[in-house]
Amino acid sequence: MAGEQVPLLLRAARGEKVERPPVWMMRQAGRYMKIYRDLREKYPSFRERSENPDLAIEISLQPWKAFRPDGVIMFSDILTPLPGMGIPFDIVEQKGPMIDPPIRSKEQIDNMRPLDPEESLPFIKKILGTLRQEVGNEAAVLGFVGSPWTLAAYAVEGKSSKNYSVIKRMAFSEPELLHKLLGNIADSIATYVRYQIDCGAQVVQLFDSWAGQLSPIDYDTFALPYQQRIVQQVKETHPDTPLILYISGSAGVLERMGQSGVDIVSVDWTVDMTEARRRLGPDIGVQGNIDPCVLFGSKPFIRERILDTVKKASGAKHILNLGHGILPGTPEENAEFYFETGKNVNELLSLSN
Ligand code: CP3
Repeated sequence: MAGEQVPLLLRAARGEKVERPPVWMMRQAGRYMKIYRDLREKYPSFRERSENPDLAIEISLQPWKAFRPDGVIMFSDILTPLPGMGIPFDIVEQKGPMIDPPIRSKEQIDNMRPLDPEESLPFIKKILGTLRQEVGNEAAVLGFVGSPWTLAAYAVEGKSSKNYSVIKRMAFSEPELLHKLLGNIADSIATYVRYQIDCGAQVVQLFDSWAGQLSPIDYDTFALPYQQRIVQQVKETHPDTPLILYISGSAGVLERMGQSGVDIVSVDWTVDMTEARRRLGPDIGVQGNIDPCVLFGSKPFIRERILDTVKKASGAKHILNLGHGILPGTPEENAEFYFETGKNVNELLSLSN
């Protein structure tokens, strides 16, 4: 049957009736896997691991080979397109992302350039194209980008931040400056999403990880319009590619996430899935929302939480995922158990009834 050729995750994201919720996890390739940590010792530069296509492909496929998830996310970072927009970065061990000098003046913002992905991100084509070949129709290949508020937060703060005081100071005292920066980022990121889809991404997730730090009134001014700008531009040319939006600490802005125009809202663990469904309404899909720390628990506990979440999401348009990335130090056998449980969820639910 032709329908069988389309990966489960893609069918679910499009809202088709599916046999079970597809399952993958954020930060699927990463430090919780020994095979990744070993490779990281050999190639200590994050930029090299993510921009050398052979390494990025190998890393993306590590969890695929180990666990056969329903989605394979390319190994990259939300900051990867920034150098192509005139903002260099590095990711430093123990410190995280570093942008030096941080972007704080009109002159710096005027000097940004629109992203030309063919020129500055040629490795993405090889990564996504090869992943599609490697996983065939057995899983969906996911691309991803950072959303403007979150990328601007890194650009303006210069690094990870606890309270976002530098970017909020800009937002509240020089809003035109920040809007200019957010607009530049939005247009380049829309171009980048289209490029990822053209290169083979079947679903694209937008990470606005730090938009949950905004009061709803500010979310409506500095985050939502730029999410919408990306979604609109992408849907104009690529209407059939499902888009997912993730925000960390999103309980206060969940309904607003639905207004972004994405197909699926990725819910974190601070929201009960039944309530998330109710608050988002019937037209929007949900992803999530197991607390990543659940994977530090016992197997019966992990199973109980997965079944609880799947029941609460009640079938259609649910992608089983964690509520944020899997944490370093998570036992790999618990990650394996998470995938196994997700794939056998129908049998387990009928046993538990
Ligand atoms: O999900 C996946 O498996 C795809 C890979 C992926 C990475 N970063 C690889 C990575 C994805 C989707 C991201 C997105 C990303 N990057 C986000 C949004 C998701 C989220 O967590 O909210 C953010 C905020 C970043 C910025 C960033 N990059 C941070 C905060 C860090 C961690 C710093 C640290 O040391 O803890 C990174 C580095 C990074 N990106 C790592 C990985 C696996 C860990 C560093 C390493 O492996 O050397």
